[in-house]
Amino acid sequence: MSTTIPADLPLTDAEILRIREDFPILQTEVNGHPLVYLDSGATSQRPLAVLDAEREFATTLNSAVHRGAHTLAAEATEVFEDARGTLARFIGADDDEIVWTSNATEAINLVAYSLSNASIGRGGAAAARLRMGPGDEIVTTEMEHHANLIPWQELAARTGATLRVIPIDDDGALRLDEATINERTKLVAITHVSNVLGVINPVEQIIAAAHEVGALVLLDACQSAPHLPLDVRALDVDFAVLSGHKMLGPTGIGALYGRRELLEVMPPFLTGGSMITTVTTTEAEYLPPPQRFEAGTQRVSQAVALAAAIDYLTAVGMPRIADHEERLGRRLVDGLSAIDGVRVLGAGIDLPRVGLASFDIPGIHSHDVGQFLDDRGIAVRVGHHCAQPLHRRLGVTSSTRASTYLYSTEAEVDAVIEGVVATIEFFGVRS
Ligand SMILES: Cc1ncc(COP(=O)(O)O)c(C=O)c1O
Repeated sequence: MSTTIPADLPLTDAEILRIREDFPILQTEVNGHPLVYLDSGATSQRPLAVLDAEREFATTLNSAVHRGAHTLAAEATEVFEDARGTLARFIGADDDEIVWTSNATEAINLVAYSLSNASIGRGGAAAARLRMGPGDEIVTTEMEHHANLIPWQELAARTGATLRVIPIDDDGALRLDEATINERTKLVAITHVSNVLGVINPVEQIIAAAHEVGALVLLDACQSAPHLPLDVRALDVDFAVLSGHKMLGPTGIGALYGRRELLEVMPPFLTGGSMITTVTTTEAEYLPPPQRFEAGTQRVSQAVALAAAIDYLTAVGMPRIADHEERLGRRLVDGLSAIDGVRVLGAGIDLPRVGLASFDIPGIHSHDVGQFLDDRGIAVRVGHHCAQPLHRRLGVTSSTRASTYLYSTEAEVDAVIEGVVATIEFFGVRS
């Protein structure tokens, strides 16, 4: 997909078919059926351009970056840094505001550990505004992925700060009237798009409230960066995290966006080689960001492949991808909600959506639903999707999640809907 098409034109069926040809795995069969891959929310598939970029790097340039004096090392460093620039432009940041991590989970832990290191005096006076202690508050929400919850529980435990949680209502929507952001709030960590409900949260409101009291905001963009145009500067967030494997890239690569003036004063999380200027046996001086946060040998081929993924997404056009997935998401929610005996989590929430819906069929365990669908070649995710508090609040222990991407078709959405009808008939639980 190399031609750029106007952002307001919907992706046509012919274009989606052409896109699908770029993804070899989508041509495979599972259990005697053509694969219907509806688990992109967990991990997306990779087009040939991404597979080729990683292979090309490994076969022509493989070497460690920022170290050797030899030609391969210099060229590898150049493509690694170019990849950083590609990601920076994709989300509206500057190159030195992007820190490579192994995934979003590590990126969130980087911030949490850096803040707790600042709280014990690391980073000196420059990092004083990052310190936390008893009386300070960290705010997150009841709908977070565990990756954006547990690091804050740990930070609170290490610093004595209090963790507050913005509750959700019976439908699953954030109770913004109970967003406990006040002058004690130091950090607000919130997901842009729920990985269970598929709704795009009205984060602008929360970001503005946080900044009004001088709190920092971390945006979990794991489920938004792959599916919507994202501009961290326009959103005015202080940190944002994403995972490459959810946006057509390989596993093992993620990123932290951090506002430059914050990264400059933050003490490191991981320490060791490649992040220092001078080292004695008793102390070390650190490089400026982003290298200060990139200790150890870096994931170069993965970064290069992620840049190829971003080029692919950009060529198709993020507004067109968002539009396509919103339509698939509505079709999913409407189709599943119309089935007697199915409860779609968050179906009643009046917010824009991505192509992702989770549902419960009382009387049938989600693992049985997943198995039944798998027999038909349909891949979905089952369980709590790393969001136990959300499931608990909505009164279920697990759910089945179908999630789309740019390569998903209406026929695939219809296949899962028909599969759910057949599941209910098979287990005989229709009311
Ligand atoms: C909303 C959200 N946040 C964080 C994560 C964690 O991503 P990773 O496991 O790639 O670090 C996920 C992954 O499912 C997610 O959906």
